[in-house]
Amino acid sequence: MNTVHTVAELRATLAGWRRQGERIAFTPTMGNLHQGHLRLVEQARLRAARVVASVFVNPLQFGPNEDFDRYPRTLAADADKLAAAGCDLLFAPSVAEMYPQGREGLTTITVPRHASLLEGAFRPGHFDGVATVVNILFNQVQPDVALFGEKDYQQLQVIRQMVADLHLPIEIVGVATEREADGLAMSSRNQYLQPQERAQAALIHASLQAVAEALRAGRRDYEALCAEQAARLAQAGFRVQYLSLRASDLGAPASDARQLRVLVAAYLGNTRLIDNIAISL
Ligand code: PAF
Repeated sequence: MNTVHTVAELRATLAGWRRQGERIAFTPTMGNLHQGHLRLVEQARLRAARVVASVFVNPLQFGPNEDFDRYPRTLAADADKLAAAGCDLLFAPSVAEMYPQGREGLTTITVPRHASLLEGAFRPGHFDGVATVVNILFNQVQPDVALFGEKDYQQLQVIRQMVADLHLPIEIVGVATEREADGLAMSSRNQYLQPQERAQAALIHASLQAVAEALRAGRRDYEALCAEQAARLAQAGFRVQYLSLRASDLGAPASDARQLRVLVAAYLGNTRLIDNIAISL
């Protein structure tokens, strides 16, 4: 696997592959890779002759009091893992390479349907940052197919919406969340958890499963059900931001849908955890 840091080097490699008519899969990441990311590469390999991954900690998508400065940067280890997983090319640009004219006044992509929903409500501007950088990366790589983890389920919907609205000729694939043995969704941010918090963190997945089980048992009082599980998390010391049942596209109300998602965001100490699961009625 080759690692490149500039758009010019990236394009030179991609041009060679395109001349040979090779299909290109792309998985963007912020690095500090875990099994969830490597699953994206594995799935990418099934869909294209060439796999490109990017590692870029994108300042645009972090709020002023978020963890941009302390976000783990582990490029050498990430490159080893990507190479072992069968990635063909790693693009690891600097902030200056990505935003050569600075971030002030930068052309920005907004996906209004998600701006004040769930994550959008609690992380103002976050999805503008995600959509903008993913759009730039898509323009740089011009992949045939791009893969994203379902752990960031709303992010996946934002990207699907952007691709549809902007007519980008890219197939978007969501890949199931990888979990630890106790159910905790794998995330680069899990390493912020203190040992005692790590032991408790599995409750977040358990609360989602409790919602799913209650629905399967016939309950339809969605709001009360979510409130019960949010209270259970709060009692265990989580600061819950939302625990919500939605139609799986996050657009329609849950009450009208048979394919649902239950989604949660909660702080445990200083660590913000998110998770979601699908429920089919
Ligand atoms: O999911 C992530 O790691 C990031 O939000 C992404 C898609 C790489 C954009 O920076």
